[in-house]
Amino acid sequence: MHYLDAAMTESMRLYPPVPFDSKLAMEEDTWPDGTHIHKDSVVAYAPYAMGRMEQLWGSDCLEFKPERWLDDNGVFQPQSPYKYAVFQAGQRVCLGKELAMLQMKLLVATLVSHFTISMSSIAAASEAAADAQDAQDDDDDDDGGDDDGFKPTYEISLTHQEWSPSANSSSYSG
Ligand code: HEM
Repeated sequence: MHYLDAAMTESMRLYPPVPFDSKLAMEEDTWPDGTHIHKDSVVAYAPYAMGRMEQLWGSDCLEFKPERWLDDNGVFQPQSPYKYAVFQAGQRVCLGKELAMLQMKLLVATLVSHFTISMSSIAAASEAAADAQDAQDDDDDDDGGDDDGFKPTYEISLTHQEWSPSANSSSYSG
């Protein structure tokens, strides 16, 4: 269960369900670092970008590595919500975080119980996903990651969703 927590947390670091979030300043404000925010300004933070910042996560920031959330004994180590802002932080932090995590664990447990998983099938599935993704990418613009593994493509919106090539809207590749 510690590894499952780590894998889910790591998945949302790279693919946060809420990729960006904005606020409207109701009054003049000055942040602890001295930044002045004018009344009526919109201020946004982007968990999608924050999850890929080398300054926050190190040089392997683009790698999917659940182990970064585990200590030497395999125990899950949460990080500051101001660094991992997937559920926001502070007084308006997501109230459903624990329920969301529980629901995802139930989903994973339900799915896993229907499959027999072996290392060879994991390697084959990841190879097939990479081939499918390569076929979909006509341009070779790099998101900084390596070319191995499955890279979901999303439509930009308040909540992330899978992008369909038939949809007539702007999109970007994760
Ligand atoms: C992976 C799933 C979820 C993610 C990533 C997520 C993320 C967030 C984020 C970023 C906010 C801050 C929004 C803002 O104020 O700008 C938020 C707020 C909130 N979330 Fe979630 N959420 C998730 C699931 C849930 C679930 C399942 C529930 C309820 C059962 C829930 C209930 C709430 C509530 C009530 C707030 C408002 C808290 C407040 O403003 O005081 N969330 N969530």
